Amino acid sequence: MANKDTILQVKNLKVSFRTTGGTVKAVRDVSFDLERGKTLAIVGESGSGKSVTSKAILGILAGNSIIEGGEILYDGRDLLKITEEEMCDIRGNRISMIFQDPLSSLNPIVKIGRQITEAMLLKDKGNRRAARKDFNTMLAEIRTNCTAALGQGEAARVAEMTKTFDDFNIEGIKMENSYNTARAASEGFLADAEDFLFLAEKKQRLDVKANLATMEGKLKQVKDEFFTHGYDDKLWAAYSALKSAASGAKAVKEGEMVPENIRKAVSDAEALVKELQGRTVPDFFRIGYYKMKNPGADLHSQSVEELNASCLTYLDDNFMKEFLAMEEKGTRYSFDTALEKKKKVVESLKAARPFFESAELTRSSGKKRAGELAKEVEGSIDRLEIRKDSMAYTFGFAMNDAIDRYFNAEKKNPKEEARFARQSAKREALIARGKTVDWKVVPKLVYDLDELKANITGTIDAMVAHYEDYIAKADTVDFSARSVELVDYLKERASQVVYKVTRSMAHEKAIQLMEEVGIPEPRIRYNQYPFEFSGGMRQRIVIAIALAANPDILICDEPTTALDVTIQAQILELINKLKAERNLSVIFITHDLGVVANMADEIAVMYAGKLVEYGTADEVFYDPRHPYTWALLASMPDLDTTEKLDAIPGTPPNMIYPPKGDAFAARNKYAMQIDFEEQPPEFAVSDTHWAATWLLHPNAPKVEPPKIITDRIARMLKKSGGEA
Ligand SMILES: Nc1ncnc2c1ncn2[C@@H]1O[C@H](COP(=O)(O)OP(=O)(O)OP(=O)(O)O)[C@@H](O)[C@H]1O
Ligand SMILES: [Mg+2]
Repeated sequence: MANKDTILQVKNLKVSFRTTGGTVKAVRDVSFDLERGKTLAIVGESGSGKSVTSKAILGILAGNSIIEGGEILYDGRDLLKITEEEMCDIRGNRISMIFQDPLSSLNPIVKIGRQITEAMLLKDKGNRRAARKDFNTMLAEIRTNCTAALGQGEAARVAEMTKTFDDFNIEGIKMENSYNTARAASEGFLADAEDFLFLAEKKQRLDVKANLATMEGKLKQVKDEFFTHGYDDKLWAAYSALKSAASGAKAVKEGEMVPENIRKAVSDAEALVKELQGRTVPDFFRIGYYKMKNPGADLHSQSVEELNASCLTYLDDNFMKEFLAMEEKGTRYSFDTALEKKKKVVESLKAARPFFESAELTRSSGKKRAGELAKEVEGSIDRLEIRKDSMAYTFGFAMNDAIDRYFNAEKKNPKEEARFARQSAKREALIARGKTVDWKVVPKLVYDLDELKANITGTIDAMVAHYEDYIAKADTVDFSARSVELVDYLKERASQVVYKVTRSMAHEKAIQLMEEVGIPEPRIRYNQYPFEFSGGMRQRIVIAIALAANPDILICDEPTTALDVTIQAQILELINKLKAERNLSVIFITHDLGVVANMADEIAVMYAGKLVEYGTADEVFYDPRHPYTWALLASMPDLDTTEKLDAIPGTPPNMIYPPKGDAFAARNKYAMQIDFEEQPPEFAVSDTHWAATWLLHPNAPKVEPPKIITDRIARMLKKSGGEA
């Protein structure tokens, strides 16, 4: 809805850990948005809460963790509130994570290839089930809304059109699957041939017969006519040439063969396969329609280009124009009805707010009222929206949770006070009697009830603000673009329904993935164990596994810290490349600002469980505002800095007793009195940049960043040849 395309929202996340020494407040009210296709870097010293934040997103926090509050919104759900089963589906499938130490993610006794294919096969089944459900739900929604928009008189026509869409889509995807299988097999054949040549050249022992048999097996799968399109004979001829060259070589003497004719046969085969793969891909979606309407038609008598063109016109004229026009009316109808409901919801929420603030609020009355509101909110969701409105979907959960937390605390606080008083009294009594007491009273954990109550009304306010924003932007919606998007969405989901990953496809895909992440000779590496790989290569494998299920979001937690500098740069480059090619959204965690200079779009600086500065990479590098960011920048090595680097003095605070004001105050030479007393708010520097430091208060004295930083910024600006 909003202009920003947010894929994941973390809101007011608070995480603690119970320990014998007290409660560690590891993450204290962290909020950020991750944009689709962008990289957000979270930077901070050891112990600042970076890993805890990312583990919370994946639901893999340690057993002694307590989620004190917050929401993590993704695809219409709050990841903090879903079941473990749902989380399993998201973890790895939609959101993947790579860690600092690649070995911890790999099984040492399972061959690399197997570890990648298992990840794929495991995820496939669940994916297909989910895709089928999404496809059916969305198509049914289209039917309902189009019928409502066009009137009952058109109901039969709408039903017929949606059914037709479903049918020919499936028809097209079946053809596409067969095509893809043939294509993958041709790649397999070629790669085997290349391996064969490679081993022959390296004078390795070769079982010529077995190798040829595997190649032949793959070639037999290359039988889709759309793919070969009259080239079957040539493909087999290329293989025969290779076979006779290889058999000839065998006769010469195994281990000594580097025959020129094998090389020639392989390079001919390569040219042929490359040619096949380089040809225009049939437009299966459209051909599917044509085939359905003309079951007997010969699809292979014309070129693919001609077929694509004629099927495009055919589909448009006979179906698609009408379908899109109908769909546009349906999406508009769905949007408009939802919008009216949203306006009413805003009224209801505002009217209900005083009740949640009042003293009349009880757990049961609160939940009852929240339930009614949540129902109303859910009823106001536009079901034809592809990007799910997470906040609306999870409003009920959020309210319930906020209410529970308030009343739980109300009940627990007096007990905790009593426990603390009892134990303290006992301890003092013992000491008074001259006993040595070797135990401490566990510090008391009482909750701030006002804050918890404000959470309840805050949840309502946030929902109101969200809907008001939505209403304000209502007339900027482009329904024709939405209809096209919806068709694309259905096509994509449908292809996941039909596309079953077989073991041999998984094998081919694993090889492709290994190639994609830069593993040389993947076919040989496929059958090796993790210990046979170097650290950098292992990290590449871990990345391949993380990508196996085609996730939307990749979380990298210090993925390069265990690697040496040159390898580090390569892995960073790889992550950047994958991000661009796959439109991945990346959360990149590191303690080293230098690492993210060339890869982050946005940077969140974290200290003692809080974000202290947030901005685009340019803003944080060229216009840093928080003294902690200055300290991080000053300790970051670069090639041109001749001065001695400043290590950050002091150590981070004990998070069992986090400081009252700005947590960095004690280590900050620019700290003012207020820094020790009060938590600074987030002062906006620009629309995209803020910092939580009292230095940005209008009454604060003007302080310049340290010289080492201003010098460096001047140098960087000069280098990039302009203003930031
Ligand atoms: N299971 C746990 N029990 C107790 N405290 C924990 C637990 N896990 C993390 N912490 C504490 O939470 C705080 C934040 O830890 P986190 O792992 O997020 O740090 P980090 O920013 O990732 O640091 P690093 O750069 O060292 O990885 C630390 O003070 C840590 O000691
Ligand atoms: Mg960490």
